[in-house]
Amino acid sequence: MSHSVNVLMIGDVSGSAGLGALFLSLQGLVKSTNSAFVTVNGENAAGGFGLTEEEYIKIRSYGADVVTSGNHIWQKEQVRPLLDSEGPLLRPMNYPQGVPGHGSVIIEKDGLRYGVINVQGRQGLVIADCPFTAARREAERLRSLGCIVLVDFHAESTSEKEAMGFHLDGIASAVVGTHTHVQTMDEKILPGGTAYITDLGMTGVQGEVIGSKSEVAIRRQLTQVPYKSEVAEGMAMIKGVCITIDTQTGRALEIKRI
Ligand SMILES: [Fe+2]
Repeated sequence: MSHSVNVLMIGDVSGSAGLGALFLSLQGLVKSTNSAFVTVNGENAAGGFGLTEEEYIKIRSYGADVVTSGNHIWQKEQVRPLLDSEGPLLRPMNYPQGVPGHGSVIIEKDGLRYGVINVQGRQGLVIADCPFTAARREAERLRSLGCIVLVDFHAESTSEKEAMGFHLDGIASAVVGTHTHVQTMDEKILPGGTAYITDLGMTGVQGEVIGSKSEVAIRRQLTQVPYKSEVAEGMAMIKGVCITIDTQTGRALEIKRI
């Protein structure tokens, strides 16, 4: 009997092109990597900003066991009741008390227990409660319950993301960054056995500015006027990682970029 499991963690789905790429690629990827569990960051799935029930249902039906998010989850008001009612839909856990939704979930699948945590960085984003304290406490709790712990750290800053990787090393099986939409090639296994990458990259149109139309992005920079970003259209790609985890120790054995 195998004592390892493969897990896919997929980066920010951007707009309908990103959803299309997920629809076309995810099932094949699950098969080709022999993955047993999938997380997808869906915070940009609704036209590039936020998420509604429609995109959430699609992402789940394409094969996501858990849908994580980030700062843009608040963009579409209609998602808020869903944040409370849908267990596998996460918002960053380090928001103040009373905010709709939850930032972690336990999913039992094929005899294994997965604990997924979504947490948000503070550098360059709205001020949330300390992500380091929140993530560490929750990761330890989930680990003590026998979970394979997977963390989506939605953050802007590379140093903040790397620090989180080391902070949770040996507790989480994986700490992956999301939000910046450009995949980094620094995937590694940290000394305590945690798989780490600074950013999973974006599931969307790769040829423009982080999934938005470059013309508008340039106009914003030239004028410093916050013109509304427009999500790019065209051929999209799926990005993320596949992680092999020892199910007995929780240690990551391998991490590969998609
Ligand atoms: Fe974000």
